[in-house]
Amino acid sequence: MKLEVPDYIYTIPPYVPGKPVEELEREFGIADSIKLASNENPLGPSPKALAALGAAAAKLHRYPDGAGFALTQRLARHLKVKPGQIVLGNGSDDLLGMLARVLLQPGDEAIVPDPSFLMYTIVVQSAGAVPVKVPLDQRLAMDLPAMLSKVGPRTRMVFICNPNNPTGTAIGRQAFDAFMAALPERVLVVVDEAYYEFVRDSGCVSGLAYLESPCAVVTLRTFSKAYGLAGLRVGYGVMNASVADLLNRVRMPFNVNSLAQVAATAALDDSLFLEKTLATVHQGLDFLYAELSKRGLRYFPTQANFFLIDVVRPADEVFQALLRQGVIVRSMRAYGYSTYIRLSVGLPEENLRFLRALDAVL
Ligand SMILES: Cc1ncc(COP(=O)(O)O)c(C=O)c1O
Repeated sequence: MKLEVPDYIYTIPPYVPGKPVEELEREFGIADSIKLASNENPLGPSPKALAALGAAAAKLHRYPDGAGFALTQRLARHLKVKPGQIVLGNGSDDLLGMLARVLLQPGDEAIVPDPSFLMYTIVVQSAGAVPVKVPLDQRLAMDLPAMLSKVGPRTRMVFICNPNNPTGTAIGRQAFDAFMAALPERVLVVVDEAYYEFVRDSGCVSGLAYLESPCAVVTLRTFSKAYGLAGLRVGYGVMNASVADLLNRVRMPFNVNSLAQVAATAALDDSLFLEKTLATVHQGLDFLYAELSKRGLRYFPTQANFFLIDVVRPADEVFQALLRQGVIVRSMRAYGYSTYIRLSVGLPEENLRFLRALDAVL
């Protein structure tokens, strides 16, 4: 083979997902492991979504509705926006890729908070563009003034992760207003709200509030977290209709499969499941905070369904030792936090199991 691959492809850091339970059990020859590593919904999928799948399965010989009509209409009602302002994705990851394909050429720049969701860097580098990384501030929150100071003539987009993965910090209205007022109109803002449903801080603002701004603002949400449908891959972006038109030009024609469309539409009607999910996560967080305080361990309060814990030892070692106890978390060493782990909130019994494993390890 003599492939002519652009050099920048070789510089892309491969995405490392949370370890699947099956892989851990295969490697260690153990059973009954738990995964608290990928910020998934501990309750499972929405029951209404599951019920809707049965009837949809009988039509799997047909292509999906490429326009995702029913889901888009339902989302538009839910969010009080026009259907033409919504683009569906095969997970919100898919929309990140579309945005990069539309906006970035080799040599362009995109501003990326650091640490944050690793896919931003990957999609920017895939287009041959340069991720300009801006460290978080002392509170581990996005430093919007510092991000603004990095805007230059080649800046095409800015990524905002709200709440931020992996730190769980969220942005308030005043800081966002000041940022938007100073940003040049040619720069597109991606506001990734994968965890927005979990936010408890009433001061936190959504990108949807800036839909009519002079700058293009694309707000991304997903059914992978609060709605429990990570395995189906469905997310969406809300944006000005002219930006939606651009994304639809590069979107694969059947990017959201028919089961995902039907399940996501049903999940939006499952308000009981959403309520139960939020109660489980919020009660779990409060329990874990109290237990970690009792142990004298420092943690970082979150607006999401995961949070950082300083285990005061090399995070990779603690991660490995927890694996041997059948508990999968995330080491934050690769994110620049050598003694932090990230924990996704689980069911009450899973949270207890994590604490027992942590006690054994520490
Ligand atoms: C901040 C953030 N954005 C986007 C995603 C991707 O979500 P999806 O499953 O919709 O592709 C994740 C998944 O972990 C995430 O943490």
